Formats: sequence, structure tokens, C-alpha cells
Amino acid sequence: MIEAVIFDLDGVLVSTDEQHYQAWKRLAREEEIPFDRAVNESLRGISRMASLDIILEKAERQYEPATKKELAKRKNNLYVQLIQRLTPADMLPGAMSNLAELKAAGIRVAVGSSSRNTGEILSRIGLSGYFDAVADGNDITHSKPDPEVFLVAMNRLGQTPEQCLVVEDAEAGVEAALAAGMRVLGVGAAASSKKATHTVASLAHFSILQWIQELDKA
Ligand code: G6P
Ligand code: MG
Repeated sequence: MIEAVIFDLDGVLVSTDEQHYQAWKRLAREEEIPFDRAVNESLRGISRMASLDIILEKAERQYEPATKKELAKRKNNLYVQLIQRLTPADMLPGAMSNLAELKAAGIRVAVGSSSRNTGEILSRIGLSGYFDAVADGNDITHSKPDPEVFLVAMNRLGQTPEQCLVVEDAEAGVEAALAAGMRVLGVGAAASSKKATHTVASLAHFSILQWIQELDKA
């Protein structure tokens, strides 16, 4: 029986893709490193430092660890400025209705995100204090596809992997959920995932509750 749903944040509950892209693009331009939307796509679900390492693969020079830390900080300062403008209207279609429907049915809801800005984003979209558990980039040492963030959320909920469903838009996140022993619904960019338990283009017009009730019957 599924008793809890763990939602990824960026790309599942809230649309922050553009803000991440704009911040990385500006940093890459300042450092004269090639960067485009295709590279940005490969950063989905990946931690800030691991994302920077991917971007720096195209750099002509080598970066010392201290300089890399400074670059990551610069990107984050740009990103944090951009997310100041987030409002509840930036929630993705179907996210709020699914959360409310699950909660009303007694299913516990959690966030499992690689982002260290999770608290700030939840507050901007009006969802601080809404979830039964939140696990984010500040709680973990291994980023998706490692299962750590979902296992932290699960432990905070006091559930087992079989009782948890993950909702993810990143292939790295789909893999993380499966590595945690959980079932996973792929949405958005993960709608073409071959590994996800089930996929759907968007949460709009899709009822996670109805789907998990069918899963539990099967
Ligand atoms: C999410 C996004 C990634 C981002 C990561 C870390 O998983 O999909 O693109 O790199 O969070 O975000 P942060 O806010 O900590 O830089
Ligand atoms: Mg995501």
C-alpha cells in the first residue's frame, strides 16, 4: 500500500527551470564557457557542485577547488535573486490540486529535492509548513541518482520504501527513487523515462490518488 508521496520540487511542484538556466548562462558567459539549453537539461536533479563540474567540462582552463566554490556561490547569488520573484502562481499545473487531494485522503506528502534553496522556494510559493516531511540538498552528502534524499524523507515520515511513491521530472531522480526501492511517477522531462513505474506528461488532469488506488488494487 502506498501511504506517502515524495515530490521532487524543481520541475514537479514549481517551475524554476528558467531561473536555473538564466543564472548558469550568465556565469558561463562571464567565464567564457560554452553553455546552452541542452547542457542545462543535463543538470536536472543534479546538485549545484555536480552541475558546475558538468559545465566546466567545456571550459578551456582548469579550476581550483576554491575557485569552483566561488563560481558555485556566484551562480547561486544570481539564482536566489531570480527566485525572489516566485509566487504561488509559479506552481506547475496540477501540483496544488494533487497535493490537496492526497492530503484529504490521508496520504502523507513530502518533498525530496537536491536543492539547497528548498526552504526559500517553498516559502515563496506559500507551502512552508505544508508537508509532513522535507528532505533537501542541505540534508545529504550524495546527490541523485543516489537514493539518499528520498531515504531521508522516508525516514522522517516513518515509512518503508514500498509505502512510498516518488514523483520526479529528472532521469537522475527516477534512478534515485528506484535505488531507494520506491515506485516512481515520471512527469515533464521524465515523461519519456523507460525506467519509471508510470509516466505522464504533466500533473494537470492527472490524479495521483486515483492512480495509486489502482496500483494498490493490482
Ligand atoms: C534541483 C534542480 C537542479 C539543481 C539542484 C540544486 O534538483 O533540478 O537543476 O542544480 O536542484 O539546486 P540549488 O538550488 O541547491 O542550487
Ligand atoms: Mg526536478
